[in-house]
Amino acid sequence: MSLAIPPLPGSSRINTSGRLEVAGCDVVELASEYGTPLFIYDEQEIRDRCRAYREAFASRTDDFEIIYASKAFSCTAMSQLIAQEGLSLDVASGGELYTALRAWFPPENIFLHGNANTEDELFRAVRSEVGHIVVDSLDELRTLDRIAGREGRRQPVLLRITPGIEAHTHDFVQTGKLDSKFGSCLEEGVAVSVVEAALESANLELTGFHVHIGSQIFSLEPYRKTISVMADFLAQCHSRFGFECRLLDLGGGLGVAYAPGDEPASPDQLAGVMVTGLQEEMERVALPVPRLAVEPGRSIVANACLTAYTVQTVKEIPGVRTYVAVDGGMSDNLRPMLYGAAYTALLAAKPEAEPTATAAIAGKHCESGDILVREAPLPDPRPGDVLVTPATGAYGYSMSSNYNGQLRPAVLFVKEGTARVVIRREDYEDLVHLHERLE
Ligand SMILES: Cc1ncc(COP(=O)(O)O)c(C=O)c1O
Repeated sequence: MSLAIPPLPGSSRINTSGRLEVAGCDVVELASEYGTPLFIYDEQEIRDRCRAYREAFASRTDDFEIIYASKAFSCTAMSQLIAQEGLSLDVASGGELYTALRAWFPPENIFLHGNANTEDELFRAVRSEVGHIVVDSLDELRTLDRIAGREGRRQPVLLRITPGIEAHTHDFVQTGKLDSKFGSCLEEGVAVSVVEAALESANLELTGFHVHIGSQIFSLEPYRKTISVMADFLAQCHSRFGFECRLLDLGGGLGVAYAPGDEPASPDQLAGVMVTGLQEEMERVALPVPRLAVEPGRSIVANACLTAYTVQTVKEIPGVRTYVAVDGGMSDNLRPMLYGAAYTALLAAKPEAEPTATAAIAGKHCESGDILVREAPLPDPRPGDVLVTPATGAYGYSMSSNYNGQLRPAVLFVKEGTARVVIRREDYEDLVHLHERLE
């Protein structure tokens, strides 16, 4: 029998033992073999989502680039998979860059982002000859120009622009508004002066621009508006400097389903809006259509993964609430605490059993706010049960921490009935290996 809960990977089904199975692997067995908390990614689902993006754009234009935003989930195996699928990679720090390079990701297909890159991070990016650095500010532009000069490299750059667009999503993941820590705004000639500085710089080659209006976006209208704003800006840069934009990176942000009833747009719908919108807008301003790039993170990995926990305690407060406490929490999924993000939960041994109670799924951390799911209908949960939260593939592991001395979980890629560990579980020695050695 297959499962009708939307946020689970497409390969999820109920097996002959009546338990949840993903990509041919029984989740209860995975939990017992690899321990919990455990991130379980359906590898084929990630690949299918990469292909869906590529096909959506390829059916409309020849000149495009899909850049996976590795902040959503990054590890060497993921970098390797992204290279195999022919996507480029967005890295947002020296650490993400290092991870990509350790997986032999082609540097020419890497974009380094960041609003506060250190000189060391910029130096490493230039030295490893990354394809593009997305410059966030005038200060960064000057530093980068100096570093590139020292390295004897003409470094291709994009300039990050804040288009002043509201993306109708949580305030913490809005990034395109005027009042933003990211990018150069269009107001009062700020962005134009950064363009001028880039064109005058000795060691930087300005290829084009980057915008990212936010994350977990359901309405495509803000993307259309962004393209229109950017077309006007491209026209301004052309008439002022004769500059012709060759690459326009419209960022990521496509929303995903976290709970039944969430209905995000598809990559195909996004591609329709972006490709057509860009063609129309460039025609309006009478300039050639630049290469179009898009930078999805969440919509590649979120729904390809679920997290398995083990229930530790079940506590009923009569007339108030039942708490089901698990062996993870805000150290492996910070999103509910950071943004009030809503998740669902089910028991891996009886995914379709009738719920007997609605419980709050509590984490194990010393914070009352450490609640993973506010209201989860569950069938008689007991200590020892394997509890699963679907759609945890994006910004879960990548925001994980050692709070309360919690060990970071293992991460599995599962495919055709076999599992491989792509990140091993930390052990207690990992926790202290950076500490002063006391003899
Ligand atoms: C510059 C940039 N590009 C791409 C992304 C990916 O966004 P999403 O995961 O929502 O697709 C982000 C996310 O914060 C970002 O900051």
